[in-house]
Order: sequence, then structure tokens, then C-alpha cells
Amino acid sequence: MADDRTGSIDTLLHEERRYSPSQEFKAAARWNSPAIYERAQRDPDGFWAEMAKELDWFEPWNKVLDWDVPKAQWFVGGKLNASYNCLDRHVKTWRKNKAAIIWEGEPGDERILTYQDLHREVNRCAATLQRFGVHQGDRVAIYLGMIPELVIAMLACARIGAPHTVVFGGFSPDALSDRIQDSEVKLVITADGAWRRGNIVPLKENVDRALKTCPSVRTVLVVNRVMNATRVPMDEGRDHWWHREMDHSGGTCVEPAVLDSEHPLYILYTSGTTGKPKGLMHTTGGYLVGTQMTSATVLDIKDTDTYWCTADIGWVTGHSYIVYGPLSLGATSVMYEGAPDHPDKDRFWAIIEKYKINVLYTAPTAIRAFMRWGSEFPLRHDLSSLRLLGTVGEPINPEAWVWYRKHIGGDRVPVVDTWWQTETGMMMIAPLPGITELKPGSATFPLPGIEADIVDDRGNSIPLGGGGYLVLKRPWPAMARTIWGDPDRWKRQYWDRFPGIYFTGDGAKRDKEGYYWILGRVDDVLNIAGHRIGTMELESALVSHDSVAEAAVIGIPHEIKGQAIAAFVTLRADETRPHKELIEELKKHVTERIGAIARPDKIFITAELPKTRSAKIMRRLLRDIAEGHILGDTTTLADPNVIQSIKLQYEERE
Ligand code: PRX
Repeated sequence: MADDRTGSIDTLLHEERRYSPSQEFKAAARWNSPAIYERAQRDPDGFWAEMAKELDWFEPWNKVLDWDVPKAQWFVGGKLNASYNCLDRHVKTWRKNKAAIIWEGEPGDERILTYQDLHREVNRCAATLQRFGVHQGDRVAIYLGMIPELVIAMLACARIGAPHTVVFGGFSPDALSDRIQDSEVKLVITADGAWRRGNIVPLKENVDRALKTCPSVRTVLVVNRVMNATRVPMDEGRDHWWHREMDHSGGTCVEPAVLDSEHPLYILYTSGTTGKPKGLMHTTGGYLVGTQMTSATVLDIKDTDTYWCTADIGWVTGHSYIVYGPLSLGATSVMYEGAPDHPDKDRFWAIIEKYKINVLYTAPTAIRAFMRWGSEFPLRHDLSSLRLLGTVGEPINPEAWVWYRKHIGGDRVPVVDTWWQTETGMMMIAPLPGITELKPGSATFPLPGIEADIVDDRGNSIPLGGGGYLVLKRPWPAMARTIWGDPDRWKRQYWDRFPGIYFTGDGAKRDKEGYYWILGRVDDVLNIAGHRIGTMELESALVSHDSVAEAAVIGIPHEIKGQAIAAFVTLRADETRPHKELIEELKKHVTERIGAIARPDKIFITAELPKTRSAKIMRRLLRDIAEGHILGDTTTLADPNVIQSIKLQYEERE
């Protein structure tokens, strides 16, 4: 258990501050009576069926849930199409000319796509994909910055039933290649570059490097984003300009494929406890039901709202709450391409003022950075359009929660802290803003239809007031169905620890009133600025460097990022270079292997690592050293002197 953090959580459990919804908010909210929790509990299948009726189905389902651990099927026999639900059904209504996407580029350029515009572009893209031989079931990788073409490409894939795998533009060529190979991608969509803090991220160059080891890819479509078209080399036969191919497709309409409810919608890679990222596979019907429901009820997005989720679509938050949830609801979703501090630290607030944003969904790590920058930046702008704020990705400390509510929300709007994961696809533990009394720092309660619990080592439920492992006891519609190509790992990792129930990998506590307080990961996964990175992944990246013999990676507390990466490494005997030079080289090496998000904050070169007699590295002791704690139990160490020598080296460097 994350017992090193329980001290602070105990003080959290005594949090006295409470925030109830205003009468006005309550009156207008989609859900405003606690009876909804009882309704869902009384008859979960009936509840989910009711939620599913909000979508358009080509053919109805004949069974809500078929559950044979760990294989779930939702809305069995039902037929639908995600792109139809996000587009076609809206263009038949008054929403035809409503903005679906309001996009702002980092340099300040702007594009607004109505539902009709988006429908047209998606059709052209779907026709293009078909022309290049992409069939139902084929995988397409999308490696783009935050531009509208990313959404167009995703929905085009969904239209023809080709599962997409979006790879975050910050990942390195190696990481991209691993993902493309794992899902045997046929076609890649990328751009000549992406803007980030005024610089160009060389996406196409990265794709060229990645594809050296990806024989399955036959075609690359390249969006011209940074206008240096003449400068990116194009491989004749393989690479094609997106705009030319889209023009070719003219006004073609591609009938949305009639897909089974369980047809794969996408694969999204995330880090686990081994060196190899896992591709979580999400399917169509249940996923749309879950993301649409929570967009409507937790984010409370209404037709009159302008909604902005600041996540990158390379992560699950963007999939569920920029694209599929809001668009199936017919909402107006804002997308911003660049960094929050470009050209200045008020960029987010300028965007909110400019588009009169009503609902904002962002991450605690961003909020902590805004706090550090100071309230003068939001003060420069009129933020009075905001009526709801949300957070996701990591535990939010009460000070950040209260700052967010006060300085961004004018001390008048609800703040919903939403707990969920790539695996869950949808929000799971979160307030209903028209009902729930909020406590700063708590994700509050499991949503209607969701059954969570906190259990001990043996799977026994822990009474209110205690802490343990966070589990989910009943399947839910948006859950991932498997790990792509590795169903055994899906079972082992999530369903075997506590047989038949889902283990989240998180630790949590519940206070006397049943509010959930998430502690963070209890496995070998770090959460760096809201991004998941496995310690094993980092360690394999480090040992792939010629000079490194062994490596052990731990997370250390970080004021803004929540956690930072600290690596302890031992060197090969023949390595004699100065440590300072080597440390820089190793940081660069990890960045090249995985991406900038994985760059270690600190690297300590030590003579040995603390190990048990059975040669297991004792990370807990390294964590104790890094956090300056009194060392825990060292009796199982093979050589107790090792710890003293590491401690000395660590203290010297600090
Ligand atoms: O540790 C939890 C943390 O993020 C993990 C899931 O990461 P990922 O799959 O990348 O998805 C992030 C966005 C949904 C969880 O296991 N986490 C996510 N949201 C919260 C959180 N921790 C505390 N509070 C949250 N609201």
C-alpha cells in the first residue's frame, strides 16, 4: 500500500469544507435527485438500457450484458455506428449548423467546423481510407498534434469500422514503432509537424524513423499543418498529401458501416507493470453509452454550452471527453493545439474569455502550475462565462481544488473531480454536480450503475473510515474488453488479484460518510503530470544504454507534476566517463526511447542497488532515501552496507 502517503490522507479525511450545488445550478442540472443512485442499483441492466436509448441504433440489442469473467459483452446483438451517432443523427436536426468543433491553433489561427462541415470532412476521409484499401477491421495509426484532422480521422475510421490507434505526438519514433507493430497497422495518418511553444515537432520525420521497423504499413497520409511542405521528404508510393487525397474524394458519401455493438472502436496504449505498453481495446456500443452519459450528467454539458477539455487526444481523456462523449451528445467541443504558456501564461484564460467557455475540464498538474504562476494571469480576463469546472488524471490536493474554484470559478461554480482510467473508458467515481455535496480533494462517490469498493489484501471489504485497494465489482458499459493480442494479460493483470472483480491498481480511502479519496497507484506505475509511465518501461530504456548495468526507477513527490522520476543506476565496469556527462546522456537516451514525458528528473549513479537475498531490488528503500524518511525494514537486504553507501551518494548530490 502507499503507506508513505497515508499520513497526509488522514488529515484529508477530516476535511471540513463542503460545497453544495446552488439552487439555480440544481434546477438546471440533468440529474438533480439522489433517487437516480437507487434507481440504478435496483436494476443496473434496466438503468444501462435506459442510458443506451439515448443513442441511435440500427438494430436493437437483445441482451444488455453478457458477463463471463473477464469477458464482457454489452448490448448484445445491437448494431450501430459511432460516427453516425456523432454526426449523421445531428445533421438531420437543427444542430446541422451548430459548431461541433471550435479549434484554435497555437499561432492564433482558428477554425470552426459545424456538424455539417465535420460530417462532410469525415466522409471524404472515410472515402480516402477506403481508396487506400483500408477495410473493416484493419487498424489505422494516427500520430498528429491537436488539429481538427485528428478528430476527422478518428471518426472516419469509426465510420468504416477500422479501429484507430492514436499515438500521442510527444512519443518518440521507437515508442510509435512499438505501437504500430503491436497492432499491425496498415495506414498511418500524420502531419508535416505540430506547433508546440513556437517550435515545430517533427512528426513526419518521426514517422519515417518509426516505419523502418514496421513492415505492415503501406500508406502514410500527411496533413500539411506547418506549411513547410517542400521540406518534408515524401516516399513515393507510400506517402501522400492528405489535402490532395481529400480533394480527390470530393463530395463522396460513405455509408456508415452497420457494426456490432462489440465491434472494436479503438486501441489505446498505456503503461503497465511490465516493460511493454498494453493496447487496451474499446468497443462501440457500451463505450458510447458510458461516455455520452457522463458527458451529459457529470460535465453537465448542454446544447447552449461551449465546452473545453484541455487534454491531448493522444490520451484517453481526449478520446472520451473531446471526441466521442461530447460529439455523440451534439455538444460544441473546443480544441486548442498548443501550450498553456504560449505566448504568455494567460493563454487558457484568453481562450475562455474569447469563446465564452462554460464548462472546463483539465488536469490537477495544470492547476498546480497555474497556482505557481499566480492569480494575476486569470485576473486579466473575464471568466464569468464558466459554470462548471472539472479535473482528471491524478489526485488533486485540496489547496489546488480550492484555488481552482476561487480563481477560475469565481468561488461560485462546482468543481467535479473525476476518477477513471484508460481501462474504464468512462468516469467511474465522480460527483453529480446537481446533487453531490463536494469536499475539496475527493472524487466523492461511484456514479449510478457503478459498484466500487475498497478491500484488503484478501479482498474483504474495508469498513468506512479505512483504506485499501480500490476495486470495481460489477462490469460497466465503457470498460475495455481486452488487451490487444494478449487476453491472458488482461485476465492476469485485472481479474486474478481478486478473483472475478476488477483491480484498478489504485489505493484509496473512504471517510465516515463514504466519500472516496484516491491515494494513487499501488503498483509499479508512476503518474507524472497525469501521464502514466511504468517503472519497468523506464528501467528497460535505461539498461538499453551501453553504459548501464542495472537500473531502478521510483517516483518522488513533485510540487507541480505530482510525481517526478528518479532513477538509480549502476554502470558497467568499463565506463569511466564523468558522471555529470553521463547523466545528461542517459536523460537524453530515455527521451529518445520513449518521449520527453519520460525524461528522468534525477539520475543517481551508485555502486550497487539494494537487493533482497533473492536478488529483488528493494525500491521501497530507495524511496525512503529519496524522501528523507527513516529507513524501513532492512533486515531482508542481502548486503545492509549498500544502503548506507547509496544514501551518502544521494545526499552528496542533493
Ligand atoms: O491513479 C489513477 C489516476 O490515473 C490513473 C489512470 O491513468 P490513465 O489510464 O492514464 O487515465 C487518466 C485519465 C482518465 C488512475 O489509475 N487518476 C485518474 N483520475 C484520478 C486519478 N487519481 C486521483 N484522482 C483522480 N480524479
